[in-house]
Amino acid sequence: MSSTPSPVWSNPAIKWVDRRMPIFSLMHKELIVYPTPRNLNYWWNFGSLAGIALVILIFSGIFLAMHYVPHEDMAFASVERLMREVNSGWLIRFIHMNTVSLFFLCVYIHIFRGMYYGSYKAPRELLWIIGVIIYFVMVGTAFLGYVLPWGQMSFWAATVITSLVTPIPLVGEELAIWLWGGFGVNNATLQRFFSLHYLLPMVIFALVFLHLWALHTTKSNNPLGVDVKKKADTLPFHPYYTMKDAFGLGVALVVLSYFIFFNPNYFNHSINYVMADPMVTPEHIVPEWYFLPFYAILRAIPDKLGGVVLMFLSILIWMALPWLDRSRVRSGKFRPVFKWFFWVWVADFVLLTWLGAMPAEGTYVTMGQWATAYYFAHFVVILPLLGWFEKTKPVPESISAAVTAGHDKEAAA
Ligand code: HEM
Repeated sequence: MSSTPSPVWSNPAIKWVDRRMPIFSLMHKELIVYPTPRNLNYWWNFGSLAGIALVILIFSGIFLAMHYVPHEDMAFASVERLMREVNSGWLIRFIHMNTVSLFFLCVYIHIFRGMYYGSYKAPRELLWIIGVIIYFVMVGTAFLGYVLPWGQMSFWAATVITSLVTPIPLVGEELAIWLWGGFGVNNATLQRFFSLHYLLPMVIFALVFLHLWALHTTKSNNPLGVDVKKKADTLPFHPYYTMKDAFGLGVALVVLSYFIFFNPNYFNHSINYVMADPMVTPEHIVPEWYFLPFYAILRAIPDKLGGVVLMFLSILIWMALPWLDRSRVRSGKFRPVFKWFFWVWVADFVLLTWLGAMPAEGTYVTMGQWATAYYFAHFVVILPLLGWFEKTKPVPESISAAVTAGHDKEAAA
């Protein structure tokens, strides 16, 4: 396809800037006329939604930081003061807390969408890998943020997670002391966690920029998984997808507002409204919902080091997906067997989420072990085998051919 000519700007200020630094032409090319597959469904809304959630988190976080005091004696009180005495302080905090859940939900749907439609396959491998790196940084950022209010769950989550490094041979104990800045989670730990929690969202932001750069180089995949071949396969991004994204954003904001205004502590643990006490361990230490599947994998292995390694591998393995899945057909739509295994894997992920919230005893442990085994078998056994044995359905020749075929059928009916 031919590249789009730069627009002629009538506004003299825009013209002046653009001649010296063509930022308006770039935005016009990448956000307005950008050729986007014409058949994207609503599962393609979640990337931009995740981006908006990130921006809300950064803005609300900046305002929270104006009132937060990163000191072990004052952190908890400073958050309580914010909630009770600062004008709209409660609102800023509830926006920040609940948008984290929206962010993770969007990113999970975004990842699963990519898995179903084979968006990780060539030529989008690097785009996918950058995505997995973003996810790792998100996990780190959310963990650090959860420690800051210095409630009981904050303190004990920090203790459990940082102690995971102790079984590392030779350096484990030293590493934990280095991370804590002392002989346990203490004031120095809180201060470095605050500093890093402020920094990492900016790193995520930069990574998202690279992610979008890679996306605009390879262009979007689509539900059919066939490449764009002609102009008729695409639509300009604006107004078609700006409007579709705006509609999705409207729906997401309604749901988010419900939680912020009517059920703000739904995703929180009540014990985190008790100030951190190193002398009292809570009965159950349960992470936030978005970490639960990985927590279940961690606890499925009786050996602590083995559990830690497997937990990291469970995310790292996503990076290898472009090479583990050998099927020549991209979209799950034309892969009748893969489709089923995909949903079984999603069910397994949900099961692990549930198990992560259960106490680590009896049948829960056994179920966790089976669910973990299946989680990995999906990637290292099922996907490679499907690539060899699955009989796929015929793939349409182009996006526009498939779209008009649908119209023809409707007209005949
Ligand atoms: C801060 C988190 C993220 C943001 C803001 C973000 C943003 C976006 C946006 C705006 C798009 C284009 C619209 C769409 O396809 O939905 C996109 C595409 C994509 N993202 Fe992300 N993303 C994030 C995380 C991830 C993660 C964690 C992964 C994978 C592990 C990932 C993998 C992909 C892939 C493969 C595509 C191309 C999809 C296609 O064209 O079918 N992203 N991302």
